[in-house]
Amino acid sequence: MKVTTTVAVFAAGSLAAPNRRAAAAACSSAVNLDASTNVWKNYKLHANTFYRSEVEKAVEAISDSSLKAQAAKVADVGSFLWIDTIENIAKVEPAIADTPCEDILGLVIYDLPGRDCAAKASNGELAYNEISRYKSEYIDPIVAILKKNPNTAFALLIEPDSLPNLVTNADLSTCQESKSAYEEGVAYALKNLNLPNVVMYIDAGHGGWLGWDANLDPGAEELAKVYKNAGSPKQGPEPRRVLQGLGRQVQQLPEREDVRAKFGAALKSAGHPSYAIMDTGRNAVTGLRKEWGDWCNVDGAGFGKRPTADTGDSNTDAFVWGKPGGESDGTSDSGATRYDSFCGKDDAYKPAPEAGTWNQAYFEMLLKNASPQF
Ligand code: BGC
Repeated sequence: MKVTTTVAVFAAGSLAAPNRRAAAAACSSAVNLDASTNVWKNYKLHANTFYRSEVEKAVEAISDSSLKAQAAKVADVGSFLWIDTIENIAKVEPAIADTPCEDILGLVIYDLPGRDCAAKASNGELAYNEISRYKSEYIDPIVAILKKNPNTAFALLIEPDSLPNLVTNADLSTCQESKSAYEEGVAYALKNLNLPNVVMYIDAGHGGWLGWDANLDPGAEELAKVYKNAGSPKQGPEPRRVLQGLGRQVQQLPEREDVRAKFGAALKSAGHPSYAIMDTGRNAVTGLRKEWGDWCNVDGAGFGKRPTADTGDSNTDAFVWGKPGGESDGTSDSGATRYDSFCGKDDAYKPAPEAGTWNQAYFEMLLKNASPQF
């Protein structure tokens, strides 16, 4: 399952980047993110070593020289690092050591009990009734690491797909079982990760999910409920920016950009901050999905806008790369335990490996279809 991670990957990557480590060592003062401002105006999303080494391997596998040169540039794009298992918490400290002072390290918090309750591709390691393990073996150790590194800035994307699933898939017994652990787990994460050097965004799915008129208010109310249960985390006089992040499957967001504004307004009236970041990692090409809900390895997709705080919308803090482009959404092997039928649909790219593992052909497709081009 999952991302292929080895100590060697980190070692190779960090050896290749001695200057970055030196820069990190030079961060001499504690980071205090001003919750009343857009922190992305002051920090750049870090191009982490994990994605860099995936991309560097991909570059080696390309023979066409102009495509190769384009591919090499992807390694410098900032993206979020997914902490999708307890074991992968080990990725965090090497990533911190590699983060220059002017960068913000993006981490995805993704290990809820009963994870991915409406699909099979990303079912997690914890069962729906293992909330105490989630707290003590997953969130608490991450909190300890972030506290130990007060001079580094972090952006956290909290539990992709989880709260949206409680709204739109409430009829599934798996989501019913997971409901209390999702709500308690996300509230616990928000409360305990609310540190001066951290900004958090709660995942809110994508425009073709909570974006439907009938889902906007229930979706906003669900996020606001959990946010309030976490004590409406604040820092200083302003509400802390515990925000809406539009999720990883936003390949076609431009067609429904109105959704951000509408969902933001619904959040505001439900008592939740309305600022957002958007995942533009794979949304360059529109009109590809046969149905709005199709989420698995959308065929024909391309890398979208690079991370920037220049979004043209004061409620959208930044465009980011959330899902690392090239890592699969799920396997297309219908015999696999984690096979989800969405990954076998006509508009899903095939063949595709297990969720989180590298798909070279998909990466090359994203590159060829990139807008702007590399
Ligand atoms: C997978 C994770 C992976 C993430 C990023 C998810 O779909 O379940 O294992 O880390 O995607 O690629």
